[in-house]
Amino acid sequence: MNNQVAIVTGSTKGIGKAIAIKLAKRGIKVIVCGRSSEEGEAVASAICSSGGSAQYMYLDLSSTDSLAAFTHQFKKQHNRLHILVNNAGVSGYMGPVVSTPVNAIRQTFSVNVESIFTLCQELIPMMQQQKYGRIVNISSVAYRLTPANSCTYNMSKAALNAFTQTLAKEVGASGITVNAIAPGLVLTDRIQNERLPGMASKAGVTPNQMLEQLTKGTVTSRLTTEDDIAEATLFLASEGAAAITGQILDVSSGV
Ligand SMILES: NC(=O)c1ccc[n+]([C@@H]2O[C@H](COP(=O)([O-])OP(=O)(O)OC[C@H]3O[C@@H](n4cnc5c(N)ncnc54)[C@H](OP(=O)(O)O)[C@@H]3O)[C@@H](O)[C@H]2O)c1
Repeated sequence: MNNQVAIVTGSTKGIGKAIAIKLAKRGIKVIVCGRSSEEGEAVASAICSSGGSAQYMYLDLSSTDSLAAFTHQFKKQHNRLHILVNNAGVSGYMGPVVSTPVNAIRQTFSVNVESIFTLCQELIPMMQQQKYGRIVNISSVAYRLTPANSCTYNMSKAALNAFTQTLAKEVGASGITVNAIAPGLVLTDRIQNERLPGMASKAGVTPNQMLEQLTKGTVTSRLTTEDDIAEATLFLASEGAAAITGQILDVSSGV
């Protein structure tokens, strides 16, 4: 996979960072992006210090101006794109449907769906020209588990899956595959620090007890890791995965 170029959105931290590092280890030049410049620069420089190739580019997916500036700058600097990993996503409004403001749907969809639509529209022509491309969208098992109080998120991931399957049919003849990975719970810093304490207090247990319960609830008796998602992404982004397209791959330890 040497000499390939990949964009990984939301790679300043969490799952996206693990994906960026994994792809870079295979000799792929990775464009690390997100809004946190300091973290993004740190990821890119860590990759470069260990012999890989990476560059940080600012990108705010909720802003049409930022998306336009990003795609313009990317096309100016690079004339090739082999892999697009649409990883960035937001949890959106947490609460019951009856109290969810309609605007919350737009906010969640703007990052989790609309920005991916725009990036694909802008960048697919580069892939079509070279008759090769791999697009991997990071969805969530929420599309089928549909947990309560998370309606905008659940809807956005279901929409992303439908987008994935539709786009796959439109670009397949150009050598471009489009797949989605649906992670189960992954213990990123955000989940550990922000979600776990809330889940634990709701269940009346300590965060450690909550972790134990979540682990026991998996088929594999282990929680899914950032590296698990990165490994699956690497596979779908490889030339060897040419016959796999329009698929939603659950990487969720059986949950
Ligand atoms: N962790 C889980 O348990 C889990 C489970 C299922 C699915 N997922 C999905 O996996 C993906 C990554 O999740 P994660 O847990 O790794 O999240 P995370 O740790 O919160 O990281 C989110 C990433 O997205 C970027 N991002 C957020 N809003 C953005 C915006 N407006 N513009 C540009 N970048 C933005 C962030 O970068 P900046 O802050 O620098 O902008 C960050 O790099 C998401 O699509 C999520 O829905 C996660």
